[in-house]
Amino acid sequence: MPKLSHQVHLVRRPTGLPKVDDFTVVAVPIADPGPGELLIRNQYMSIDPAMRPRLSNGTTEIGRPIVGAALGTVVASRHPQFREGDLVEHRLGFRDFALSDGTDVSSVVLQGEPVTAHLGVLGVSGLTAYAGLLEVAKLRDGERVFVSAAAGAVGSVAAQIAKVKGCYVVGSAGTEEKCAWLRETAKIDVAINYREGVLRKTLKAAAPEGIDVYFDNVGGEHLNAALPRMRVRGRIAVCGMISAYNSDGAISEGVTTLANMMYNRLTMTGFIWWDFVHLREQFLADMRSWIAQGRMHWEETILDGLENAPAALIGVLTGRNLGKMLLKIT
Ligand SMILES: NC(=O)c1ccc[n+]([C@@H]2O[C@H](COP(=O)([O-])OP(=O)(O)OC[C@H]3O[C@@H](n4cnc5c(N)ncnc54)[C@H](OP(=O)(O)O)[C@@H]3O)[C@@H](O)[C@H]2O)c1
Repeated sequence: MPKLSHQVHLVRRPTGLPKVDDFTVVAVPIADPGPGELLIRNQYMSIDPAMRPRLSNGTTEIGRPIVGAALGTVVASRHPQFREGDLVEHRLGFRDFALSDGTDVSSVVLQGEPVTAHLGVLGVSGLTAYAGLLEVAKLRDGERVFVSAAAGAVGSVAAQIAKVKGCYVVGSAGTEEKCAWLRETAKIDVAINYREGVLRKTLKAAAPEGIDVYFDNVGGEHLNAALPRMRVRGRIAVCGMISAYNSDGAISEGVTTLANMMYNRLTMTGFIWWDFVHLREQFLADMRSWIAQGRMHWEETILDGLENAPAALIGVLTGRNLGKMLLKIT
């Protein structure tokens, strides 16, 4: 049984984009599992943009391991629901070994897919895209859809679900490589590199007939550009605001085009994935079927080693990832 758990701790609250030395890796003694507990050896951690605001707002404690989703193997168990060798998903990421009382731990059963899919396309990223598009935005077949951060974990799934539903899909991303992936692999209709030109103009050219559904991962300038393009009774699903996460209080750039909410009778709805866990079975069935039909593709950007966790988090905030950003814990 390991006597130490190596954990990534926050040393100081970052200002702006986090720096590698805002974090440190420490070795902490770890006990053997007591009654009702299990010991998990983590294999992969999910690296999520939403971790950034939590570093500033006090949710992440200084000198404590950063909380996040992880996949691992049970190496010892005195918990009635889990056995040694089980693959489990849980929230005790940013550490190699985690002792748990079973809270928020669920078993993962593979059906031929790689383990990592359960932190991405078949995990929270996929469920977020599925719920946001189909339940929150109430997407209808054949509509016109805009997805921002479209080459990322959530965005790439949202864009492809919209294609499955026969929609005209425009996606934005920050590099030519990502735009090429969106065109050639995800097969969306138009991919915009938002770093080139004026987004309001490129979006207007890409969606000349307007947008019924905007799946917003970014906020700020993207939201500002999308609002005037929305069609009557259009819906905006507010999934994330990554453009704001590095600023104090996650304050976004000013949104000045809100009058379009009224002109075009729009609905803008924020949502969080955990309100939709009841959809998980349907989501998994649909997603597995789309994967089997070759209609759902995904990418992963994997950094290796706990010491690279800060670089992975900085990377997801600066666009280093194509698809899901993960950390492999060796
Ligand atoms: N509501 C929920 O329940 C929920 C659940 C999961 C995730 N989310 C949100 O969904 C969004 C995407 O999350 P994810 O895990 O799939 O991350 P991701 O899209 O895989 O990675 C983030 C991407 O955002 C882009 N980005 C960074 N700064 C940007 C900016 N200023 N303007 C435009 N794009 C920027 C970068 O790509 P580029 O190279 O394209 O810039 C980066 O790769 C985030 O806002 C996240 O907080 C919400």
